[in-house]
Amino acid sequence: MKLDVLLGLQWGDEGKGKAVDFLTPHYDVIARFQGGPNAGHTLEFDGRKHILHTIPSGIFHPEKLNIIGNGVVIDPVIFRKEIEGLRTHDTDLKNLYISRKANLILPTHRQLDAASEAAKGETKIGSTLKGIGPAYMDKTGRNGLRVGDIHAPDFEARYNQLREKHLKILKQYDFEPDYQQEETLWLEAIELLRSFTAIDSEYVVNQYLSENKSVLAEGAQGTLLDIDFGSYPYVTSSNTVCAGACTGLGVAPSHIGKVYGIVKAYCTRVGSGPFPTELHDQTGDKIRATGREFGSTTGRPRRCGWLDLPALKYSIMLNGVSSLILTKADVLSGFDVIKICTHYKVDGKETDKMPFDLNAHIEPVYKEMKGWADDITNIKSFDSLPEELKNYTEFIEKETGVGFYIISVSPDRARTIVKNEE
Ligand code: GDP
Ligand code: IMO
Ligand code: MG
Repeated sequence: MKLDVLLGLQWGDEGKGKAVDFLTPHYDVIARFQGGPNAGHTLEFDGRKHILHTIPSGIFHPEKLNIIGNGVVIDPVIFRKEIEGLRTHDTDLKNLYISRKANLILPTHRQLDAASEAAKGETKIGSTLKGIGPAYMDKTGRNGLRVGDIHAPDFEARYNQLREKHLKILKQYDFEPDYQQEETLWLEAIELLRSFTAIDSEYVVNQYLSENKSVLAEGAQGTLLDIDFGSYPYVTSSNTVCAGACTGLGVAPSHIGKVYGIVKAYCTRVGSGPFPTELHDQTGDKIRATGREFGSTTGRPRRCGWLDLPALKYSIMLNGVSSLILTKADVLSGFDVIKICTHYKVDGKETDKMPFDLNAHIEPVYKEMKGWADDITNIKSFDSLPEELKNYTEFIEKETGVGFYIISVSPDRARTIVKNEE
């Protein structure tokens, strides 16, 4: 059996949580492979709303196995809060496994994140301040603490050593650290983490695949936030592209099966950094208000703009996307005209390629399409959607060469249209 991957093709928040939850019945295992509590994945069903940060979005299907892979960074305090929030629900936390090789976020990683952002001033990344960058820096710098270390007798000594190193760096930043209270919570939360099943997830995932069991890898963030291919330096610190599923779970590239690329009907971005199709006008405000575009993790208003085809084609290429999933088309209902960026104008020349420097002056070239007036949230089949929306999806398919599998028309799990059964 092959491992399927579902990931975001824009700047995150495309609706991955909803899509993974919807697809979970088709899989035996759901696994997160990168990122950490910078992610906020929203699931809605039976009139309830849940936001997951570290835990895979298959968790509300108690019979399924959920794995936090080695590529993820875990903040034990946030993990504990998530677990406490889940205890009252129909979940089986015995079916949540954690890779021994996943790195830990320390309280001082969060302080380092804050210090680094403060030092950058105007040029700050707009990080979620969850300690993601500093934790991955310690991982690649070979200083990190991992889930497998928490059972070692010298764990606390190693923790103290790393904390002291961080405190020295914070002094250089002239940053007054405030971590003591958080440290107490962190050490308590480590106790909870010890009670979970820690696994060598690379063996477990490969064993499942060899037994013909199906595994879905759940991406976090989005392709345009990838550390290598995103709008650097305004990116996150992990590989959000499909290749990240190989390194973040220990699965060979030859085992990758379907790649579901999820895309909003427009674009959003939270935090700083270039955004060629951003709308600074009432249209942008209308999309933000209708789409309730406020961060699931930080509550920050999301910047909104039209769909960007050069960026989408780039993401599809990098990930080898085999099927597209469209979300939030319902938010565009009621617009007379919908714009879609087909090219960029850079230095007077038209291109549909991503320039090296996205911060350079980029003028989006738009195609205008007729919008649709009807509320589409109760529509159950692709054929019943307004013609204008069908034209919109067909135009995207023609431009990208990839077909839509799912059209989502509401946050609710039940309101999801499968266009073509796979
Ligand atoms: P993720 O990080 O990719 O999982 O996405 P988020 O949960 O951060 O943000 C997506 C938001 O859009 C959430 O509030 C979802 O409940 C909501 N959502 C998902 N799909 C749809 C849809 O088709 N229509 C509408 N209106 N909202 C959606
Ligand atoms: P999900 O999985 C949207 C953005 C931050 C910031 C940049 C770096 O919910 O789609 P970091 O905290 O990683 O150092 O922040 O990346 N960012 C996200 N934006 N959705 C996310 O996750 C994000 N995770 C990080 O806003 O611009
Ligand atoms: Mg999100």
